Amino acid sequence: MNTADLFAPHAPSAPPELRSLELRAQISHHDSLYYEQAKPEISDQEYDALYRKLGDLERAHPELITTDSPTQKVGGRPQGAFAQVRHLVPMQSLDNTYSAKEIAEFVERLQRLLPGEEIPMTIEPKVDGVAIALLYERGHLVRAATRGDGTAGDEVTRNIRTIGVIPAKLHGKMAPDLLEVRGEVYLPKETFARINAERDEQGLPTFANPRNAAAGTLKQLDPNIVAERKLSAVFYGFGAFEPATGDVLPESMEKFFGLLNGWGLPVNPRHWTACDAAEVMAAIRELGEIRRGFSFETDGAVIKADLISQHSRLGSTSKAPRWAIAYKYEPEQAKTRLLGITVQVGRSGVLTPVAELEPVFVAGSTISRATLHNEEEIARKDLRIGDWVMVEKAGDVIPAVVKVLTEEREGSEKVFLMPTQCPVCNAPVTRTDGEVAVRCTNPGCAAQAMKRIEYFASRSSMDIAGLGEAVVSQLVDVGLLHDVSGLYSLSADQLIQLERMGSKSVENLLAAVAASKDQPLWRLLAGLGIPHVGVTVARTLAASFGTIDRLEVASVEELCAVEEIGEIMATAIHGWFRNPAVLSLLEKLRAAGLNFGERDPKGNAPAADGPFKGTTWVITGILSIPREEAADLIRSNGGKVSGSVSAKTTYLLAGEEAGSKLEKAQKLGVKILTEEDFQKLIV
Ligand code: IVH
Repeated sequence: MNTADLFAPHAPSAPPELRSLELRAQISHHDSLYYEQAKPEISDQEYDALYRKLGDLERAHPELITTDSPTQKVGGRPQGAFAQVRHLVPMQSLDNTYSAKEIAEFVERLQRLLPGEEIPMTIEPKVDGVAIALLYERGHLVRAATRGDGTAGDEVTRNIRTIGVIPAKLHGKMAPDLLEVRGEVYLPKETFARINAERDEQGLPTFANPRNAAAGTLKQLDPNIVAERKLSAVFYGFGAFEPATGDVLPESMEKFFGLLNGWGLPVNPRHWTACDAAEVMAAIRELGEIRRGFSFETDGAVIKADLISQHSRLGSTSKAPRWAIAYKYEPEQAKTRLLGITVQVGRSGVLTPVAELEPVFVAGSTISRATLHNEEEIARKDLRIGDWVMVEKAGDVIPAVVKVLTEEREGSEKVFLMPTQCPVCNAPVTRTDGEVAVRCTNPGCAAQAMKRIEYFASRSSMDIAGLGEAVVSQLVDVGLLHDVSGLYSLSADQLIQLERMGSKSVENLLAAVAASKDQPLWRLLAGLGIPHVGVTVARTLAASFGTIDRLEVASVEELCAVEEIGEIMATAIHGWFRNPAVLSLLEKLRAAGLNFGERDPKGNAPAADGPFKGTTWVITGILSIPREEAADLIRSNGGKVSGSVSAKTTYLLAGEEAGSKLEKAQKLGVKILTEEDFQKLIV
């Protein structure tokens, strides 16, 4: 190494320690110029580039991350690990039971402890998520904490505030003076399936189940990531509870659930009441029948004495209350044989090994295939072709191989090796450092093209009827189609050659392809395969930027300013538009006459007529209603909603704890409305 390199901290050859030190110092310097002196010396793009370099470096060398690194800051404040908070009342656990006999013993014990009394009971789903305690003071959410060791947990208020179903302010008039409400944060099963599919596609490690995914998400230091993951919650109990003056504690759990509901806190979708062990078991069995239909995972039922006055008299052991117990359902697993491992190639070229199983019935349906995610996962489980394995449905939906029954091996089982060539196009495969995924290196790979075209044509994207897997694979196989732009130059003569294509289907398909040129911008954005961009984000982007051209030139910062777009997403979108292959595809689509937003046919949130017509709004801070609801109200009254404050902003709707946007609006003289002002305007 020559000395010049040593003194050029940005040079890739400089030691990473030196580079990260230098980058941190530079970013701090520019932060100070920007935030404290309002005299930035570099553009947002240049700032973003510095920030990204540091982020990349830290990802490659996690040991270099310091607690005061700008990448660890949330909203400008340094964040180390989470602060610890003491629960006002310890968060206990529950004893478990596994049989009708043990349930009968539980009911007998209650009767023995409260002789001669009626002991009504409630039965409800046991939500398999992450336990959480929220503290509401006079109806306002002031703190949220995980269970931790039961006495003290992590303070995760900022993350909890991103969860749409959790009200920042309790609804209704009779909010208690103080309420420490307890429940479970969970990742809905459908969201879990989507996130894992995306992570597989991006070569990131997948979550084993929705509970792990929820726990990992709540631990994120960046609330934007939490917001993207769309967590949900259910509440079922309380710690400290001081009713409003003149009000009293509810007399039963049943009444408490009613109160929670009235305050806008989500409760379990079903609960049962029972007076004896037989009724409890009947409820447990009924719950067992329907539990797979809930959006959360349940591994059991919770049985509680319904009358709250009986709780204190029943008391608790050091670990769990005596007035409640959990009943655990048998985990549904099945034994089957791993017949083979096939390899699929995804839209972005990731090779995914798939278990081909002897079909077996488990948790309501037959499983014959299960993703094995990647090579490391196969090695970790020591899976060999021919093995007997146990399978289950992760999150009740995704078939998964949980373990190998090694004791049943006969010696003829074969170790699986990931191919070194793409099984479809034979191009060599590569593995990027730090990624578990192996990718096909050929951007023209037919398998990738096929998947991308199918996705583009699918119902949730461009919705081109008649362009399913069978047609797409034939078109790609015979070389008529290489990418989505090719769809727009297909002719009737070419299509009629395909198997099972009559002149009527050809006519319909061509009409559907032509009609898709006028689809609204969000559908095009959803279909292009931009990383992290599904239907919801595509709608948000279309509504915020209006045209592809505007989106293409948006900086990472401008993207981040949009509601629901965090830094990871913003960086990925920005990067996607800087790929020459993408730009050339977009040009071909433009030449084919697709709507890039200019035609705005069925509306990228067109301004309706209404009292807000011609006004542009920005929403910030915490409102009592979800932000999206406020945005819809503005749009349905004719206004536009934007993500960032500028001279063009007419109103800033500022909720509680509004920060930099409020400051900027004040500086620019933008009219600021409280939620109360806003509510008056819309009635
Ligand atoms: S009541 C004193 N109800 O399961 C504890 N807990 O394994 C009273 N859980 O610690 C808890 N669903 O985190 C209750 N419907 C439900 C529940 C539930 C899930 C969790 C909770 C508890 C753990 C015990």
